[in-house]
Amino acid sequence: MTPTDFAPAHVRLAPSILSADFARLGEEVRAIEQAGADLVHFDVMDNHYVPNLTIGPLVCEAIRPHVQIPIDVHLMVEPVDALIPLFAKAGANIITFHPEASRHVDRTLSMIRELGCKAGLVLNPATSVEWLDHVMDKLDMVLLMSVNPGFGGQKFIPSTLAKLRNVRQRIDAHMARGGQPIWLEVDGGVKTDNIQQIVRAGADTCVAGSAVFGAPDADSGYAGVMSELRRQALAR
Ligand code: DX5
Ligand code: ZN
Repeated sequence: MTPTDFAPAHVRLAPSILSADFARLGEEVRAIEQAGADLVHFDVMDNHYVPNLTIGPLVCEAIRPHVQIPIDVHLMVEPVDALIPLFAKAGANIITFHPEASRHVDRTLSMIRELGCKAGLVLNPATSVEWLDHVMDKLDMVLLMSVNPGFGGQKFIPSTLAKLRNVRQRIDAHMARGGQPIWLEVDGGVKTDNIQQIVRAGADTCVAGSAVFGAPDADSGYAGVMSELRRQALAR
């Protein structure tokens, strides 16, 4: 470990229900909460911004009574704005979107917060961190994609580590100037064998879809893989 490594006391785990059994979603979200999940990561794909089609506000509303933990809605949709009030009403707690999919990023962030949710921007592997420059005071989360969005089960893109360090520095500098806390989440290809370097590079919140729901021992409960993810994430 070098002195510049990030070493948080707690790392939030956000299982992505994209890899869950959609026929038993209520049971699945209850199981991950019981296994120690901090957030439910909820992937919304529109077959326009990304080449896949998933779930919307009705499903968010349906799972809401099954868990206490926050629902972290990741919008992979274009345009963005019309869906925001629907997800806020459906019980979303965090709403993130891809800045290039919104015509007015500052306005979209404000709208999310005005509806009582936490707001965040998602940067694809090739999207510049400069998108964050003028909206730092409106962010509760930055989500760095470590795969190209659209599908679960892809391989982690290693250049995300340098980007995590860059955004970690920006967030720390912002907070040192008295700014609000901003969570730094990473999404895509997070596994037990790379979560340690991902956290050391600056992530405090990790999405894991196939690693949790596709684990070989998943049928016997998710606690095993979740505690191994957490153990690796916090290993020094
Ligand atoms: C990809 C989604 C991810 C995905 C992660 O577009 O945003 O949340 O479900 O899945 P894994 O962890 O399997 O890469
Ligand atoms: Zn996601």
